[in-house]
Amino acid sequence: MSQSTTNPQRQIHLGAIIQGASGNMSAWRHPDAIADASINVDFVRELAREAENAKFDLLFVADGLHINAKSIPHFLNRFEPLTLLSALAFATTRIGLVGTLSTSYSDPFTVARQFSSLDHLSDGRAGWNVVTSPLEGSAKNFSRDKHPEHALRYRIASEFLDVTKGLWDSWEDDAFVRDKASGVFFDPDKLHALDHAGEFFSVAGPLNIGRSRQGRPILFQAGASDDGKAVAASHADAIYTRQETIGLAQAFYGDVQKRLAALGRAAGSLKIFQGISVIVADSAVQAEDQYRETARLVTIENALDYLGRYFDHHDFSQYPLDAPFPDIGELGSNQFRSTTDAIKRNAAERRLTLREVALEAATPRPSFLGTPEQVADGLQAWVEARATDGFIVRGGTPLAFTEFARKVVPILQERGAYRRDYAGTTLREHLGLDYPVNRYALTA
Ligand SMILES: Cc1cc2nc3c(=O)[nH]c(=O)nc-3n(C[C@H](O)[C@H](O)[C@H](O)COP(=O)(O)O)c2cc1C
Repeated sequence: MSQSTTNPQRQIHLGAIIQGASGNMSAWRHPDAIADASINVDFVRELAREAENAKFDLLFVADGLHINAKSIPHFLNRFEPLTLLSALAFATTRIGLVGTLSTSYSDPFTVARQFSSLDHLSDGRAGWNVVTSPLEGSAKNFSRDKHPEHALRYRIASEFLDVTKGLWDSWEDDAFVRDKASGVFFDPDKLHALDHAGEFFSVAGPLNIGRSRQGRPILFQAGASDDGKAVAASHADAIYTRQETIGLAQAFYGDVQKRLAALGRAAGSLKIFQGISVIVADSAVQAEDQYRETARLVTIENALDYLGRYFDHHDFSQYPLDAPFPDIGELGSNQFRSTTDAIKRNAAERRLTLREVALEAATPRPSFLGTPEQVADGLQAWVEARATDGFIVRGGTPLAFTEFARKVVPILQERGAYRRDYAGTTLREHLGLDYPVNRYALTA
């Protein structure tokens, strides 16, 4: 039953995460899993098409810059996001393509150029998930002695984004005249050098690629600390975050809205996406069974390694498993700060043992688990309660994403809460965001 004419629904936005065999860290062992999914071209192409057939807003690729033998299997052997998304640009036609890249270990000129190229290759479907890199070991892969600390990483990120956005305005929309008769290739009044000289970067510009159909790539930000939210409010078009409960998500949403208002930005100018995992089955009991079957694949040793990665690969095997979660002081606050703060707070509040904390981290119970109707109800409840604008969906088992796309999406469509077809062609249009007018055209 569609309620769209009498009681307009808030529209849900959906992204699909590409992250190997869906489920927990050991999902590759699941009987239904493709064990090499993280590096399997056919698997990734099929997932992209499945998401596009279900009219998803976007595909989302996370990333990291440091591994060791204790990293989860998916991290050990996977595609670099921009290369992967460039290939997927030709395997798809409408879905947005969002890739993660670090401002702590890149140069703005290169990044502006790469994402702009992806934006042109995909005709306006590119997005950049801006991260600051949590892992200390990244420094050693980039000829650095030291990983920048948390606040410094965000200062660098902020200037990095100023520069990147400046470079994306190098050419006004109609700068390239290409008049064969007169020999005029471009209008010099519509070419602008940036001449940026700041605390971390000196970049003259202009960029050697022009604006795309959606103006410039969409900016996502992932990082939920105060500094992270501040950078998002100033620069981002969307946030990728993960809150455990609808209440926490509402608080996060409200906090971001206040920050936008304080900066004079309109409420709808930034979309919030909650990262979720889903299990869809014919009954709630079956969904629960599927979760347990997948959780059993993770050993306690696996779980301790998984937990340790958030805390700079801290060795948690040195503590008694069934004693209260150990006091580890400030450990973690220079890495995944918002995540490690939440883990410590949760352990203290619920008086959890180390074993419980590790297993909860490594085998989280999907927040949306049950029949297709139950999952659809849950998603709508979060969006209606202004806990989020959308979700980046990961299957909680290797087959769960397919079930979600085939069974949950049609229910949302039937209820008028989700598009039946793409209305536009660019990621910006899918997200309902305004076209960014070139700063020089504005002042002309
Ligand atoms: C939901 C979420 C997703 C993230 N995804 C990535 C990622 O794919 N790659 C990465 O290097 N860092 C990722 N980060 C880490 C952040 O970029 C940042 O380095 C770290 O979390 C510390 O920032 P915070 O305390 O503001 O969350 C993510 C953080 C969050 C909260």
